[in-house]
Amino acid sequence: MSTIILGIESSCDDTSAAIIVDGILKSNVIASQKVHENYGGVVPELASRAHQQNIVPVVSEAIRQAGINKSDINAIAFTRGPGLPGSLHVGTSFSKGLALGLDIPLVDVNHLHGHVLSHFIKDDENTEVPEFPFLCLLISGGNSQIVKVTSYSEMEILGQTIDDAAGEAFDKCAKSMGLPYPGGPIIDRMAHEGDATKFKFSKPHIPGYNYSFSGLKTSFLYTLRDEMKVNPNFIEENKNDLAASLQKTIIDTLMDKFSKAIKDTGIKTIAIAGGVSANSGIRDAVQEYADRRHIKAFIPKRSYTTDNAAMIAVAGYYKYLDKKFCDITEPPFARVTI
Ligand code: KG4
Repeated sequence: MSTIILGIESSCDDTSAAIIVDGILKSNVIASQKVHENYGGVVPELASRAHQQNIVPVVSEAIRQAGINKSDINAIAFTRGPGLPGSLHVGTSFSKGLALGLDIPLVDVNHLHGHVLSHFIKDDENTEVPEFPFLCLLISGGNSQIVKVTSYSEMEILGQTIDDAAGEAFDKCAKSMGLPYPGGPIIDRMAHEGDATKFKFSKPHIPGYNYSFSGLKTSFLYTLRDEMKVNPNFIEENKNDLAASLQKTIIDTLMDKFSKAIKDTGIKTIAIAGGVSANSGIRDAVQEYADRRHIKAFIPKRSYTTDNAAMIAVAGYYKYLDKKFCDITEPPFARVTI
C-alpha cells in the first residue's frame, strides 16, 4: 500500500499544498499573494485573509492534480512555524480540521527543516539527493544559516546572522534605490548588466561562522545619500553597477563563512536552500567552489527555493515514517531556531 502525504504551507505570503506518494512528488500548487505589492513588504493581516481565501481551492487542486481522493491520504504535514502567527494559524487550523475529519495523523514541520529538506523532493525515482552529512547554506528573507545536516531530523546550526538576513539586505537596499518589493530578484537581473567592481561596500568582521548584513545595508545607504547630494541622478545613472556591486558583496560575505565551515568540517557534500538560493550569482559561486574542490554541490530547482508545500510534505513524509506525530492541541509557533 502506498504512503500518501498532503503537505500544507502557510507561514508567510504563499498558500501552498502538495501531495507526495511514497516519497515522489505528484503535485505542488502555490497561490502567491499579489495584495502586498503596493505596501513594500508583506502585510501580516492581509496575508492571513488571503490564506483563508486560498487554502480550500489550493488543497483541492493539489489533490485533483495528484489524481487521488481525499480518503487516500495517510497523514497531513503542515508548517507549524516559524512564520507570521496569523498565517500559520490558517494552515494549522485547516490541517487539524481535515486530519480530524479524515481521522488521520498530523505531522508538524519546522519551516526551516522544510527548506533544508527541499533537496529530497523527488520528481521521479531518478532524482539525485544529497548523502548525509551535508552542509546547507540556508538563505532566505528571514534567515541566513549554515546548517550541518546529519539525518532527516538532526540538524545543527553552525552559524547564523546576528542581525539582518541576506534576503533582507537585498530587499532593503533595493527599496532604498526605489525598487519594488521583493527587490532580490530585480537586483539579480540588474546585476547582469553592471560592473561589480565599481562600488565597495563594507563587509562584516565577526568571528566564527556567523553573519551580519546590517553594516552592508548602512554603507549602501550612506553611499546613495552622499552621492545623491552631488548628483541627483546618481541612482538612475549607476543602478546596474550598484546592483552588481551589492550582489557581489553579499555573495562574498556568504561564501567567506560557508567555505570556512566546509573546510573546517571536512564535509564533502554541500547545498543551498531558501529564497535567496534562486540568485544566479550565489548559485554560480557555490557550483564553482564545489567544482574547484571536487566536492558535490546541490543547487535546488528555482521553483523549490521559495516557500512551497512540496518541501513540507517531504519533511513530513520522513517524520511520518518515524511515527513522530503532532497532537491536535499543539499551537503554531512564530519564532524558533532550527
Ligand atoms: O525563502 P523565501 O521565499 O521567504 C522568506 O524567507 O520570506 O525568501 C524570500 C527572499 C526575499 O528576500 C527575496 O528578495 C529573495 O528571497 N530572493 C532573491 C532572489 N529571489 C528571491 N534574492 C536574490 N536574488 C534572487 N534571484
